[in-house]
Amino acid sequence: MTDTGIRIDFNNCMAARIGKAGLTDKELATAAARARRAFKAVARARKRKKLAWAELPHERETLEKIHESWEAKREAFDDIVVLGIGGSALGAICLRSALLHPEHNRLGVKDRDGPGLHVLDNVDPNQVGGLLDTLNLKRTLFLVVTKSGGTAETMAQFLLARERVKRMAGKTWRERFVCVTGEAGALSKIAAKEKFETLPVPEGVGGRFSVLSTVGLYPAVAAGIDAEKLLDGAAAMDAACASPEMSENPALANAALLWLFAKKRKCNVHVMMPYAHALRDVADWYRQLWAESLGKRVDRKGKVVNAGQTPVKALGVTDQHSQVQLYVEGPYDKLVTFVAVEKFDHYVRIPRAYERVEAAAYLGGRAFGDLLEAERRGTELALSSAGRPNETIWLAGVTPRTVGALLYMLELQTAYAGEMYEVNAFDQPGVEAGKVATCALMGRKGFDKERKRIEKARAPEAKYVVGGDAGR
Ligand code: PA5
Repeated sequence: MTDTGIRIDFNNCMAARIGKAGLTDKELATAAARARRAFKAVARARKRKKLAWAELPHERETLEKIHESWEAKREAFDDIVVLGIGGSALGAICLRSALLHPEHNRLGVKDRDGPGLHVLDNVDPNQVGGLLDTLNLKRTLFLVVTKSGGTAETMAQFLLARERVKRMAGKTWRERFVCVTGEAGALSKIAAKEKFETLPVPEGVGGRFSVLSTVGLYPAVAAGIDAEKLLDGAAAMDAACASPEMSENPALANAALLWLFAKKRKCNVHVMMPYAHALRDVADWYRQLWAESLGKRVDRKGKVVNAGQTPVKALGVTDQHSQVQLYVEGPYDKLVTFVAVEKFDHYVRIPRAYERVEAAAYLGGRAFGDLLEAERRGTELALSSAGRPNETIWLAGVTPRTVGALLYMLELQTAYAGEMYEVNAFDQPGVEAGKVATCALMGRKGFDKERKRIEKARAPEAKYVVGGDAGR
């Protein structure tokens, strides 16, 4: 273990272990030069202050401001609702499941370290209405998180919460909103008018790289997560990734491995499979990071490349009973990354009983953690024996420090991979197109041209609609 508490074991990615689907040392060596170039490009961009997200572990002033803000509120609130979507929501969800008690929101107010933490991340009427109907709005703080300040989903969530809170709280309704937003957007203007407390999303920090900024840290601090340790872990990982050599830089090694498998073995699917329930939403957060950053039509020179690798979220052991059959015997298009934990907080023993029934007897007296690890090893063996590449990211434990290190490593890995693919890892033109279409369809002013373009699109032909009230 390095002092980040994280190591990557990629033995099962090598041809010597798994046969021809694996990589040779020669192939690894050929990627080294590209990896070095990627490292240098990222280092140069950091020097030119173009990668603000990469400096977040070293920036502690924001944390002080968040603590200050929350200290003034903590007595007044039992629940926090994050209104936001995508990169403005996934970080909070990931930190909540990784670092709070597994049943945090169900524990009584007195039994937990902070308020209940709810994150909408959608506009489904059942979900949105269901949550607001069940919370005690008198003791709920709404954190409106949007970098652009005008995302339709977040604005709609805000408008609903505003109306409900106003109705309930009268003149004091404004005290129940805090905005985390970019300074140039519509929400910033509303916040100024309403005198909402506002904290900025730092310039140059895109949504999917914002977990260590106000976006992820405010909900984390409020819910009782040790955010200093989170940043300490990220800073330790930054130091551990200071070399241009793959063998000395885990983020670079992983970027190069994933790139090599995509390019040389057509592994266009990357499965992240944590064997820790708490890390399930790390895989969800990573899905967005890897997909939005690398899924690009053109490279930096404008050449059409349709780059990217599809990230898939799986969970050990749950998905052994759902996905692993496909991973072991299906197409040779996947690389599986297990995320494993050396030590769990809880030691839970399987009780002894039915000593004469072998199906129960052999489990008695063993730890649940041993069973989980045996299952991971079993899956690792099954994959390796079938010639399927897999690696394991080991965490010493699930702590604020290791989670901070892991998230930062994955961000850095993504930045390196962007350089290796020669794409801009920091834009998302495909997402923007969808946002524009939504505004047009919802009748927003200034989007008439787009609306007309959509209206011109042909209506569905009845012969291609099947079932129900087909062609209606
Ligand atoms: O990663 C991204 O940039 C996106 O997922 C955004 O976070 C998401 O679209 C929400 O945008 P905003 O924070 O501007 O409301």
